[in-house]
Amino acid sequence: MTTTLPPHPPLEQYYSHPESREQFVRQIFDETAEWYDAIIGMLSFGSGNRYRYQALERAGLNAGTKLLDCATGTGVVARAALRVTKQVIGLDPSIGMLTAGRRVSSFTRVQAKAERLPFADESFDLLTVGYALRHFADLRATFEEYRRVLRPGGKVLILEITPPRTSFGRALLRFYLGNVIPFLTRLRTRNADAAKLMRYFWDTIDACVPPESILSALRDAGFESAKRHVELGVFSEYTATR
Ligand SMILES: C[S@@+](CC[C@H](N)C(=O)[O-])C[C@H]1O[C@@H](n2cnc3c(N)ncnc32)[C@H](O)[C@@H]1O
Repeated sequence: MTTTLPPHPPLEQYYSHPESREQFVRQIFDETAEWYDAIIGMLSFGSGNRYRYQALERAGLNAGTKLLDCATGTGVVARAALRVTKQVIGLDPSIGMLTAGRRVSSFTRVQAKAERLPFADESFDLLTVGYALRHFADLRATFEEYRRVLRPGGKVLILEITPPRTSFGRALLRFYLGNVIPFLTRLRTRNADAAKLMRYFWDTIDACVPPESILSALRDAGFESAKRHVELGVFSEYTATR
């Protein structure tokens, strides 16, 4: 029997009991959804959409690809994919994020969780996850679910931010993501929850299991050729084939 693999230990400064984590995450995304696209534009100096598109190209996206964008949020990865294929479904548990996304673009959206996908076996060619793996309850069970809905030969593409290995690099990223971005977010949105979301963003990155554990969990779930490609030292792209 394989044990569960939470992406990070409970963060008690945000919720008092581990069981409250899911509710906390749902609520903070619901309440800050209208600011999400503006915040990520600021975070990546406007390059986030281009980077997501390039990652999709590297994963082999083409006009015939049936894609599930898991944890689609407002649909940033899905929108990049729609430039190439029209067969895109976005999934997210936050009604706030789904509703904010609907105002910007139209594609099929489903309200559900990554851990329990409401799709038949072997439904998709590519499954993407943009900056959301840290919010799942258990990586192993989630990756098994991914394997189930991918057709044989189908691929998973997971985008994540990984702190640099050097203590200087980590301290720099901590200062930028943990202090500068929450401060700028507060200035831009005048919304305390949006700034809190960005602090939570860094704290989950800082506490996240290392890349080796993510790759092992993909292999444990039955994926082959699990690997990690890194851009600019911090942007991790995990890919694996069913
Ligand atoms: C940082 S946003 C990422 C949005 C988008 N993928 C992107 O690349 O910008 C994280 C998203 O994960 C979603 N999420 C949180 N828990 C989830 C779960 N258990 N299953 C699927 N999505 C989840 C949140 O609602 C939120 O929309």
